[in-house]
Amino acid sequence: MALYPIRTFGDPVLRLETKPVTEIDDVVRALVQDMIETMYEAPGVGLAANQIGVTRRIAVFDAQDELGPRVMINPEIIELGGEWMYEEGCLSVPGHWWEITRPGFARVKAIDLDGNDVEYAGDGLLGRVLQHEVDHLDQKLLIDRLDKPIRKKALRDLRDEALGLATFE
Ligand code: NI
Repeated sequence: MALYPIRTFGDPVLRLETKPVTEIDDVVRALVQDMIETMYEAPGVGLAANQIGVTRRIAVFDAQDELGPRVMINPEIIELGGEWMYEEGCLSVPGHWWEITRPGFARVKAIDLDGNDVEYAGDGLLGRVLQHEVDHLDQKLLIDRLDKPIRKKALRDLRDEALGLATFE
């Protein structure tokens, strides 16, 4: 088991194409365990492999329900519905939360660690985390989901932060 540093906004790896997993071997199983540990340590409710520098289509999440940590390999969104505004954050953009409107309900099909087909579906936090993690694997960050004026301000704040400048509201 190992903890990985989480890559943050501006790290080019977050924008690199991710490749499907073709074989679930010991390397993948160990990686998933490390991802779960890294997610809990952060702490966060989801983590995609590219957030720790691995460009494979793997994500883990814990929607804070009784099911605990789950893994999705090669996930695909197959259904979306409704609309829900939620204050969303990301381990790769630490210390920031933005109100983001997305579909409320999401259904994802994926492969689990045994190579079986699985589906995860729900609304609330589960629906949100499913969409957020698949976004990561598609090189999208929550910043990309903001309306233009809010995005401009967010990018300015993040740039100032990266330069070590104090920000004044
Ligand atoms: Ni994230």
